Amino acid sequence: MLFLNLLSNFAIRNENMNQIGQTIIALDLVDSTNNYVANLVKEGTIAHGTVILADEQTNGRGQRGTIWQTSAKKNVILSTFVTFQQLPIEKQSAIHHWVAISICQVLSNYGISANIKWPNDILVENKKIAGVLIENAISSSGIKHAIIGIGLNVNEEEFESDKATSLKQILGSEVEVREVANKLIHYLNSGFSSIVNCDFLTLKTDYLDKLWGLNQTVEFVRNDEVEEGIIVGTSEFGLLEVITSNGKEEFDIKEVKFIL
Ligand code: BTN
Repeated sequence: MLFLNLLSNFAIRNENMNQIGQTIIALDLVDSTNNYVANLVKEGTIAHGTVILADEQTNGRGQRGTIWQTSAKKNVILSTFVTFQQLPIEKQSAIHHWVAISICQVLSNYGISANIKWPNDILVENKKIAGVLIENAISSSGIKHAIIGIGLNVNEEEFESDKATSLKQILGSEVEVREVANKLIHYLNSGFSSIVNCDFLTLKTDYLDKLWGLNQTVEFVRNDEVEEGIIVGTSEFGLLEVITSNGKEEFDIKEVKFIL
C-alpha cells in the first residue's frame, strides 16, 4: 500500500522539459520511492525524467529482495523514471554504468574517491555508501523504460554493518541532504546524454576505471562456499568476468556475493 503524507508533498516543475529533474516530487514518507514511481507508471501519469525524493521510507527495497533501511531526513532517497528511444536489451548494463558513475561524480564533488562494486554498490574505503536498485521494463524492441532507485548515505551515523559509511562519517561534518540530491540529479541528467548518444564505450571505460577489485584476487561466496577469483571485467550483457579455478567465468548477480 502506498503510504504518503500528502500535506507537505510538493512538486516543482522546471523549465527544461525532457531532462532528469524536470519534475521533482518531494515526499515526507513513502513505502518505497521505486514503488511510488511504479504506481505512476501503471497510472500512465509519469513523464521521463521525473524524480521522486523522500525523507523516509517504510519499505525501502534493496537488491536481491533485501530491505534498505535509513533514518528519516538523513540520507538521499531518490527514484527517477527514464524512458529510452532505442536501447537494446544487451546494452542494459549501460544503465548501471551511467548511474554508478553519476554517484561517483557526486562524491568526487565532495573530494571523495569512490569505487563501484559490481554491479552498482558504491564504496568508499571499502565501505558501502550508496546502493542502486534498477527495475527495467523490457519489450520486444528493447528496454522501454527503467525505474532507477538510489539510496545515498549522507548524515547517517549508525549502521547495522561495519561495512557501511556516510558522507558525514567521511567528511567529519554534516552535509545538506537536498544539496547532495541536487548534485545527484545534475550528474544523472548530464550523464544520460551518453545513453541517448549510444556512447556505451565511454560509459563502460569510466565504469571499469572505478570497478572494485579489477585485476585483483578477491573472495566471493557461491553455493555457500567461499572461493577466490580475479575480476577481469564485465561482459557485453553486464555479467562480471572472473577467472576462477574453473577458468574464465561470467557471473550474474544472483550467483555470487563478493566479500569486502
Ligand atoms: C541495494 O544496494 O541493495 C540497493 C538499495 C536501493 C535503495 C533505494 S532508496 C530509493 C529507492 N527506493 C527503494 O525502495 N529502493 C531504492
